Amino acid sequence: MKLLVTGGTGYIGSHTCVELLQAGHAVVIADNLSNSSSAVLERIARIAGKAPAFHKLDLRDAQGLQALLQRNPVAAVMHFAGVKAVAESVADPLKYYDNNVNGSLTLFAAMREFGVKRVVFSSSATVYGAQAVSPIGERAATAPANPYGRTKLMIEEMLRDLCTADPEFRAVALRYFNPVGAHVSGLIGEAPQGTPNNLMPYICQVAAGKLPELRVFGKDYPTKDGTAIRDYLHVTDLARGHVQALDYLERVPGFSAVNLGTGRGTSVLEMLQTFERVNQVRVPWKSADRRPGDTVITYADPALAGTALNWRTQRTLEDMCRDAWRWQKSGLAD
Ligand code: NAD
Ligand code: UD1
Repeated sequence: MKLLVTGGTGYIGSHTCVELLQAGHAVVIADNLSNSSSAVLERIARIAGKAPAFHKLDLRDAQGLQALLQRNPVAAVMHFAGVKAVAESVADPLKYYDNNVNGSLTLFAAMREFGVKRVVFSSSATVYGAQAVSPIGERAATAPANPYGRTKLMIEEMLRDLCTADPEFRAVALRYFNPVGAHVSGLIGEAPQGTPNNLMPYICQVAAGKLPELRVFGKDYPTKDGTAIRDYLHVTDLARGHVQALDYLERVPGFSAVNLGTGRGTSVLEMLQTFERVNQVRVPWKSADRRPGDTVITYADPALAGTALNWRTQRTLEDMCRDAWRWQKSGLAD
């Protein structure tokens, strides 16, 4: 199948391009490089043995998108492109509504014009409200707590409405829990700009001596060691979920939302200790206040992904820590 991958030079998109190419698909990437580098293209090709096509394009450029789809008849779209920093979305909501919602609207309109009727969308567990009780199933109420999460839900609703309007249009929204780690080759991974907000890249930078210590946000939560619990999954497992979602769309009409997670909760201290143990490296840390807006315990019920997509995670927390550290040490993360 020939596919358009928006945001394909980014963290999750680049890992998915590798899996798509290795599964025999042809890949055309559209990315404006606002949070990634074209240097990743050659590394995707090195791992997969095949190169993706690349077009530097902003999704809000309707004419550019139309020209791209005219020249590249694609069977489906994998839609990763978007901005994703929660705190920035609170400070500058219009940036998020413009980039994520407008960008998606422009993309879906171009798809309609060129008769492309399959889309896999990067959604997030952040669409569930803070009240959701773990394990969280897809039927849990949605109530995102910030503008970023609201853009994800709005895009899901747009896709749901498109599927109702056109019975041939099919969409699956994959609700990711906490993707971490890097490709086992050490050639691609997450390259956050500035100081990282998320736990795993922060741990990596402390271990590498770039940051002095990890602040553990909250030590008095009602959990076994007092720190908050999340469902971390390896980015390669996540990428494979997208390949499975493509097969699923061939079989199942309409709109679906599917969680991608392990179904297991890991605390901040467990993550830290696992990282130190498997990598034989010290990660100094200290307790800090709870981070505003954080949930205590969030992990997935991934049963639907198992039955519908025939997907489950294969990589362990140890794999995630080992691969993240290999990528950090490669020097390519900087
Ligand atoms: P990323 O920033 O590494 O990748 C996003 C890519 O989209 C970047 O390469 C960026 O240059 C590009 N992009 C952004 N706006 C664009 C636009 N208007 N036009 C064209 N390209 C544009 O982020 P990621 O972690 O790979 O996330 C990919 C998707 O998954 C995002 O939609 C994100 O919201 C979603 N998601 C990520 C996580 C996570 O923890 N990383 C969790 C849940 C959902
Ligand atoms: C964050 C985003 C969420 C996104 C998710 C996946 C926020 C509020 N939420 O959630 O929208 O979908 O990432 O990438 O940003 N921690 C520390 N010290 C640190 C960093 C994190 O103790 O320096 C703790 C956090 O308090 C949390 C856990 O580690 O308990 C995981 O944090 P993080 O990686 O930021 O993920 P989420 O909070 O799940």
